[in-house]
Amino acid sequence: MPDSPRPTDSPTVEFDLDGRQVQVPDDGDTLLGALRGPLGIRTVKDGCSPQGQCGCCTVLVDGEPRVSCVTPVRRVAGRSVTTIDGLPDDRRDRWAARFCETGASQCGFCTPGIILRLDALEARGTPADDLGAVRRSLLAHLCRCTGWQTILEAWEHDGTPDAGRDLRAAAERAGIEGRAPQHVGPSVALGAGGFAADTAPLGAVVAVPVDGTEWAVGSTLHEARSRAGKVQGRRTTAPGGWPVELPDGVWDVTLQTTWVEPGYLETDAAWFDPAGGSAGPLANGGAFGSKLTSPVIEAAERLARARGEVVVALAGREDTVRWGAKRPPIAAGVRRDGTGIVRIGVSGDADHGPLVDAITTLAPGLAVELVAVAGPPTHPSVRGAGWAETVALMAAVRGSVEPVVAPNGAVATAAFDGDTIRVSVRCGRPLDRVVLRSYCIGAAHMAYSWVTSEGLSVDERGEVHDLTIRSFGIVRAVDTPTIEIDIVDDDGAPVNGSDAVFAAVAAAVWAHADFAPRWPLGAMMQR
Ligand code: FES
Repeated sequence: MPDSPRPTDSPTVEFDLDGRQVQVPDDGDTLLGALRGPLGIRTVKDGCSPQGQCGCCTVLVDGEPRVSCVTPVRRVAGRSVTTIDGLPDDRRDRWAARFCETGASQCGFCTPGIILRLDALEARGTPADDLGAVRRSLLAHLCRCTGWQTILEAWEHDGTPDAGRDLRAAAERAGIEGRAPQHVGPSVALGAGGFAADTAPLGAVVAVPVDGTEWAVGSTLHEARSRAGKVQGRRTTAPGGWPVELPDGVWDVTLQTTWVEPGYLETDAAWFDPAGGSAGPLANGGAFGSKLTSPVIEAAERLARARGEVVVALAGREDTVRWGAKRPPIAAGVRRDGTGIVRIGVSGDADHGPLVDAITTLAPGLAVELVAVAGPPTHPSVRGAGWAETVALMAAVRGSVEPVVAPNGAVATAAFDGDTIRVSVRCGRPLDRVVLRSYCIGAAHMAYSWVTSEGLSVDERGEVHDLTIRSFGIVRAVDTPTIEIDIVDDDGAPVNGSDAVFAAVAAAVWAHADFAPRWPLGAMMQR
């Protein structure tokens, strides 16, 4: 008899799921909706549905990778669907070890889909040294944490776990770098990181935002979105721009930056049970400081108390782009003696005082002006906001990238020759070199991507037009330079090192472009 998640008289779809027959309502939902909804499979992740762009929901259909959020469930009738839970134990455990041993999974949200993609690649007999094939296969995926390189290393790893590794120390280092509690271990790579959308009790009512304050609820995500009238994001052809005007004056160095999207893969989620129990959007990872202002926690609690039942509040990709905290865009003019003006574009009501303090502490000769700009909310908590730009400005004034000393004492150096980014970092006891190296590679990728490629189109009324994850300009695996990390021995107290790496790499990449006056350096703004 097929496993039937709920009795129904409606038409149904029947298929093989991880070796067992299942039956779900034929209600127009996607395969992802059926898997995460009535079938309760939480290792298949939803990073952008129904955009089909991030790869987190990848499953195997008759052995071939498919993005389940754009696959109607009725299309898999009579076919075989494999999630990461359905891989043979030996293969699943080996992949988990390969990703854990190389630091190829940080938050782990993207990882199950990537593992299934690589498993299919391996099953086709792709040689272990064909890294080009691996890079190309990653075109169907996005990972915001790892900077891709460790995923290539996972492909090459033999899967033998390091028996002497202290995973508690590794988790401590991950929490320091991620600025939020974070799990480390093979289970994270298999999708068990503990995200709020995954730990919500089965059958919880789903709430999705209609606009900034209204929420639509339904028994499934599909139903809630239908009631909310959600529309897909789109890739805009509108050009980007630089929202903050340069200050008047005669300057030796100028820099204008644009809107960028933090682009974390796990969109905001929270659940609340009036009888006790809850989870928020920081359940496994800090999204580089970008989730602190999410309204999902308040919405889940308010709706759950009003209805007297468990509610999970889920933001979609478009919601996250529209309301998520953004890095403030800047415009700066600086003279050779280090004096000048940094203008910070500010939107929303967050206190940007910490950002001003960070800039003036690092560069006392700079005056800081906060100027209102129309756009999504800005927030000083976003990774190195203002401080990293000032590090780069001071490098431009000197004409060279010196070691970056972060306010917490971490020291990073970086150099970029067009092919390879070379980094050294000293940030107290490493605790776990695999995790620290992985976070530093991820920070280097994020800085390179920010300076060269990323941007969000925001019109003069402040409305964001880039609402799909592929439109943020995040640099792909095939376009990422080699990144080398040297961790300098240090017996001091462990402190965050990847933020210093982020700033140092941004400066080094800018230096390689002869300090051209606008970021991103690439062609994004002319598209
Ligand atoms: Fe890939 Fe976090 S590990 S998005």
